[in-house]
Parts: sequence; structure tokens; C-alpha cells
Amino acid sequence: MHLVVIGPGRIGEGLLPVLQTNSETVTVLSRRDYGDFLAETFAPEKAVASLTACDAVIYCAGLFELNAAEERMLQANCKAITQLADAIHVRFPKAHHITFLDARFDRPLASQPFAIQSYLKSKQALAVWTLTVAKQWGLETGARVNAIAPGPVLPPPDKAHSEKAGTCLTPRPSVKDIVQALTFLLQTPSVTGQILYVAAGQQLL
Ligand SMILES: NC(=O)c1ccc[n+]([C@@H]2O[C@H](COP(=O)([O-])OP(=O)(O)OC[C@H]3O[C@@H](n4cnc5c(N)ncnc54)[C@H](OP(=O)(O)O)[C@@H]3O)[C@@H](O)[C@H]2O)c1
Repeated sequence: MHLVVIGPGRIGEGLLPVLQTNSETVTVLSRRDYGDFLAETFAPEKAVASLTACDAVIYCAGLFELNAAEERMLQANCKAITQLADAIHVRFPKAHHITFLDARFDRPLASQPFAIQSYLKSKQALAVWTLTVAKQWGLETGARVNAIAPGPVLPPPDKAHSEKAGTCLTPRPSVKDIVQALTFLLQTPSVTGQILYVAAGQQLL
């Protein structure tokens, strides 16, 4: 299987060695390949054109910021990802897409701290896109589209953004758990339109 990992970041760096062992080939596309999601000139088509094969794409890339403008979060966490996915789907119509949400994505926004509302709203938009294209692309080309919704795997890069984990279970979810969830999605051909929480029950609270 030829995997493409988009924006490996912190969780992705933990995934890569395992994915490289388990599958035949892994191609990494990072910011230096596709550019800044927030740039007005963002156009990932050239990076996508460089791909020679793709059976599945894992979109690790995402941006967490407190008190961010809605449009900024929407661009980084949804529009840029879906632009990449559209371009990949045109080149590899049967490829499987796996997006990364957040276990808190479908909480009512008004119940959440204002500081993270724009971020959660952008993950909500990505969830809607994930389920919409799972149906559309599944019917058209047989492509699968799934999502992982991580809980608090790693603290935010900026310590000032840290908050209580808020999970039902301890310990927190781990990168190893994310790898196992990804492996399940990659190896189970009948699963599409699935949002798989890897969150120690954070989504239940
Ligand atoms: N970590 C967690 O516990 C947790 C919890 C819930 C959800 N998630 C979600 O899981 C995914 C992976 O999390 P993570 O902690 O590994 O993410 P991360 O390390 O913060 O970032 C992942 C990637 O996003 C890229 N990125 C960020 N802003 C960008 C921009 N403006 N333009 C282009 N690329 C950009 C980063 O590129 P650079 O390396 O070039 O900056 C990095 O490769 C994310 O979608 C995140 O929202 C994570």
C-alpha cells in the first residue's frame, strides 16, 4: 500500500516509523511542499502533481490557536485540507482519505470556552465535509473517506494553551492508539463515513 501523510507534525512523527514498517511506501508532504495554508496564494496542486502513487492519504495537518478568527481556523483546518483532498481525488480517484478532527468537535459551541470555539467550528466543518464526500466519492469511484477524532494525545505546543484533559479514562490516548485506529481503517475495506474517536471517552463528557 502506498500511503501519503500530509503535515506529519507531532502525532505524525510518531506514526511514520510504524506506518513505514507496516506498509510498502510512505510519501510525506509537508508545509515546504504545499505551502502555508493561510497564504493567499495557497495552491497545493503542484505538490499533489509530484505524487507518483497513492492508495490512502492521512491528513495530520491542523492548527490549534486560542481566540483565533473563524476564517483563519476554517482556512487552516478545513478549506486547505479539502483543497488538498480534492486535488488528490482528481489524480487518484479510488484513494482512501483519513482526516483528523478533535474529540470535542460536535459539542454545542455555546457550551465551550469562547477561546476554542473557532477551532472547534473548523473541525465541525471538516467533519461535515468528511461525511459528505464519503457518500459522494463512495458512490462515484468507490473511494473511502474516514476520520480519526483524537482526544488529548499531546499537550498543545504552546504551554499557555494547555487545559485539563477531561477524559473518562486514564491514561490519555496515545500515539500508539492512533496508529491502531489508523491500521483498522486502512485494513477494513467496508468502513467508510466513520468518525473513530481515540479519546479515552473525552467525547462523552
Ligand atoms: N495533539 C493532540 O493531542 C490532538 C488533539 C486533538 C486533535 N488533534 C488533531 O490531530 C492532528 C495532528 O495533531 P498534532 O498535534 O500532531 O498537530 P501539530 O503538530 O500541531 O501540527 C500538524 C501539522 O500541521 C501543519 N500546519 C500547521 N499550521 C499550518 C499552516 N498554516 N500551513 C501549513 N501547515 C500547517 C504543521 O506544519 P509545520 O510542522 O510546518 O508547522 C504540522 O506539520 C491535527 O489535525 C490536530 O488538530 C490533535
